[in-house]
Amino acid sequence: MNEKRIAPFYTEDHDHLDEYFKNFQSLKRKNYAEAKENFKKFKFGLQRHIVWEEEILFPLFEEKTGMKNGGPTEVMRQEHCQIKALLEEVHKKVQRQDPESDQEEQLLWDVLKQHNHKEENILYPAIDRFISDEERQKVFGKMDALPEHKYKTCCQGHSH
Ligand SMILES: [Fe+2]
Ligand SMILES: [Fe+2]
Repeated sequence: MNEKRIAPFYTEDHDHLDEYFKNFQSLKRKNYAEAKENFKKFKFGLQRHIVWEEEILFPLFEEKTGMKNGGPTEVMRQEHCQIKALLEEVHKKVQRQDPESDQEEQLLWDVLKQHNHKEENILYPAIDRFISDEERQKVFGKMDALPEHKYKTCCQGHSH
C-alpha cells in the first residue's frame, strides 16, 4: 500500500529523473558508457512518468473536474509532446555517442523545469484535493501494473 499522496510521489519522481539527467551531463565527457546508462534511465523513466500522467492521472482529474479541452491537462499534454521531441533530439546524439548536445540538453531542461514546476505547484495538489484515499490507491495500483512496452522504447519504438 502506498500511503503517499500524489504531489510528493510525483515530485520525487521528477527529482529522481533530474538526477539521472545531471549524471549524464557530468559524465558524458569522461565516461560515455556510464553517461549513456544514466541517459537510458532518464529516458525510460521520463517516458514512464508521462504515460502515468496521460493515461492514469490526468483522466482522473478530467473526470473529477469536467475540465478537459482547454483545461490544464490539455496544456500539460501539449508540453509532453514538446518534451518528447526535445528528448529525441538529445537521444539522436547519444545514439552516435556524440557529447556535443549541450544546446539540446539546455532546451529540454528549460521546458521540463517549467513544466514540472506547474505540475508540482498546481496540478498535483489539485488532484490530491479531488480524489479519495481509495481512488489514490487505485492510481498507484494502475501505475504498478503498467506494462514495460508502454514506455521502454528507444529508436523507432522497438524496446531494448
Ligand atoms: Fe508532465
Ligand atoms: Fe510530471
